[in-house]
Amino acid sequence: MEKICRDDEGLFETRRWKGGRVYKVFAGSVFLGILMIWVYRLTMILRGSSCSWALMFGVFGAELWFGFYWFLTQASRWNPVFRYTFKDKLSLRYEDKLPGVDVFVCTADPSIEPPSMVISTVLSVMSYDYPTEKLSVYLSDDGGSQFTFYALLEASRFAKYWIPFCKKFRLEPRSPAAYFAQAIEPNDAAFSAEWIAVKKLYEEMDNRINAAMKEGKLPQNIHEQHKGFAEWETGITAKDHQAIVQILIDGKDETSVDIEGSVLPTLVYMAREKRPHRHHNFKAGAMNSLIRISSEISNGEIILNVDCDMYSNNSETIRDALCFLMDEEKGHEYAYVQFPQDYDNITKNDIYAASMKSIREIEFHGLDGFGGILYIGSGCFHRREVLSGRHYSKHWKKNTKIDKPIQRVTNLETLEAKCKSLTTCSFEDNTGWGNEIGLKYGCPVEDVITGLSIKCRGWKSIYFNPPRTDFVGLAPMTLSQTLVQHKRWSEGDFQIFLSKYNPFLFGHGKIKFGLQMCYSIYCLWAPCSLPTLYYSTIPALALLNSIPLFPDMKSIWFIPFAYVIVTTSVYSITEAMWIGQSRKAWWNEIRIWLYKRLASYLFAFLDDVLKVIGVNKTSFIITSKILDEDVSRRYAKEIIDFGPASSMLTILSVIGILNLFCLVGGLKKMLVFHEGIVSSLFLQFVICGLITMINLPLYQAMFLRRDGGRIPVSTTVISISLALLACLIPLH
Ligand SMILES: *[C@@H]1O[C@H](CO)[C@@H](O)[C@H](O)[C@H]1NC(C)=O
Ligand SMILES: *[C@@H]1O[C@H](CO)[C@@H](O)[C@H](O)[C@H]1NC(C)=O
Repeated sequence: MEKICRDDEGLFETRRWKGGRVYKVFAGSVFLGILMIWVYRLTMILRGSSCSWALMFGVFGAELWFGFYWFLTQASRWNPVFRYTFKDKLSLRYEDKLPGVDVFVCTADPSIEPPSMVISTVLSVMSYDYPTEKLSVYLSDDGGSQFTFYALLEASRFAKYWIPFCKKFRLEPRSPAAYFAQAIEPNDAAFSAEWIAVKKLYEEMDNRINAAMKEGKLPQNIHEQHKGFAEWETGITAKDHQAIVQILIDGKDETSVDIEGSVLPTLVYMAREKRPHRHHNFKAGAMNSLIRISSEISNGEIILNVDCDMYSNNSETIRDALCFLMDEEKGHEYAYVQFPQDYDNITKNDIYAASMKSIREIEFHGLDGFGGILYIGSGCFHRREVLSGRHYSKHWKKNTKIDKPIQRVTNLETLEAKCKSLTTCSFEDNTGWGNEIGLKYGCPVEDVITGLSIKCRGWKSIYFNPPRTDFVGLAPMTLSQTLVQHKRWSEGDFQIFLSKYNPFLFGHGKIKFGLQMCYSIYCLWAPCSLPTLYYSTIPALALLNSIPLFPDMKSIWFIPFAYVIVTTSVYSITEAMWIGQSRKAWWNEIRIWLYKRLASYLFAFLDDVLKVIGVNKTSFIITSKILDEDVSRRYAKEIIDFGPASSMLTILSVIGILNLFCLVGGLKKMLVFHEGIVSSLFLQFVICGLITMINLPLYQAMFLRRDGGRIPVSTTVISISLALLACLIPLH
């Protein structure tokens, strides 16, 4: 790593990867190979090739796309930078001038996101190593659930024990659920006594919350414990209710202290108004309401937002973020600091490739090198003023401002009433909210366009990926959850590409071209499905029909194909080793890479195209959210959970079976008829053979397994029939 552009004065340092030059030479050679492949295809087309025009144009189209997309991905590997912070300097210089920080936690549905999990996240951010009088935590509950409110009330009481306990013994992580799941009872007598007492308090609280959830109603005496429960007395529902704002801990109140007498962080519950006929704009709508009410209550200069299933795994994260935002020389250029997300529940070889390590460890550093990591919706520190629409200007407060406490009405009831009026359905009518102010509306991945438009207003952003992961969530534990998650992402990202926020158009002249390319890597996930679909069906079928689509092994044109395939594979496995993946994990990632492209991206692409031509959304996808014990057991053993039947699964099965049939048919011709086809069909054998190897677990799940995660018999029958049908189509 070589150090760039900082002396020893700053609060952070940036380093660039030294191997960069070698990589650029390598990438250049691959690019030459790709050009040769294109030239080969062109000459074939001009000369009139042996196979039909349709096949030749198809394969050329696919290779044009792959080459173009490969070119885009180079942007993310061109200029990766790595950041290091100096938190001790921050404390030395600014300990008494630290800004207020408002943490936003968003939850949507108590049946999917259990309140006991939500409050563990809340408690983890309440216990940050940060002056508590400057820390405020807001929970937005789009489920409008009294169970979530109840759980938060319990958390506000437990916090009085938990926060001093964490700080006294410097515990990590500070989510009580995560801590007690992995901690062993300490030996030290004093620590041990307190440890057992706090653990008991935690377990009792957890039991009370879960019991109430199971019962479906709150115990009678609870209602009298807080005035807030009155909000639910009129029988409101999740989709139809008034605005609710309850300040559970008021950090400005001298009596809100923990058992050691220290002030507690402010804690606020919010359920914005919901009416059946009013669109609520999902998480972006919730975030904008939080921005408004927090400006009345604490008005922290910095806003951190986290998803409710992402607890903080590092109590010093705020200080890390401030090292960038408060840096004397550069800090004023940065709008936000994005942290990566990791998962608690990843198995050793990461069967669903959920950790997306190459994005986290490589590509995002590349985006950072171009001055602009994406805002990915969780684990991100924003400046309040920037979220509220401010443009970048060079002269904007170069010296870090001291946080001025806001003039606030002292009466809580009045304050809550004021806040409620800010979170009604009609408040945003005819205002800039959702457009110039706050998070943007109208796109399923609102975070990405919000981040993009902030950068187009002149700001930069920082990606900070410390060795110790800061935000930890739950990874999907079945194949269908994985595929549906990626369908949602790729669909939203491609929508951005088709909209006025297209990175090349919207970003033109405002952000670097490299960054526009980097954004497009994600925005163009969905269309990658078509060439991949072509490559995983047609070469196999052509193999079965003994039609060569690629140059003969003895031809000189074979060399660029072999070069590109071999070197990119070797590079891919080298990169995987370098970022600490096992070989098995790398292989699993390739499988999921293929499945995502053939299922998630394909349906995302279809949905987006249908939307553009005005047809309503398709309803291809139905998934069950139920995670029973069997699922967890299979997950722990790294056995892929394929079920239940879905159109995504059918596509994957058809392609898996088709390649198996074609490979067997091709091998049979070669062995039985001794045709001299190996050399002319070699690359097709390779492609077909690879797809078959990738699909070994799929065949197993069709024919050998008996458990609940197997492929349903109906899907097996349908896919075998469809694959046979495809094999019968004459390609000549
Ligand atoms: C959480 O932090 C600990 C260090 O305290 C680290 O060992 C662990 O790997 C982190 N968890 C995850 C999921 O990254
Ligand atoms: C995490 O995964 C393990 C299996 O590796 C499973 O037993 C456990 O229930 C999972 N935890 C959560 C919170 O889902």
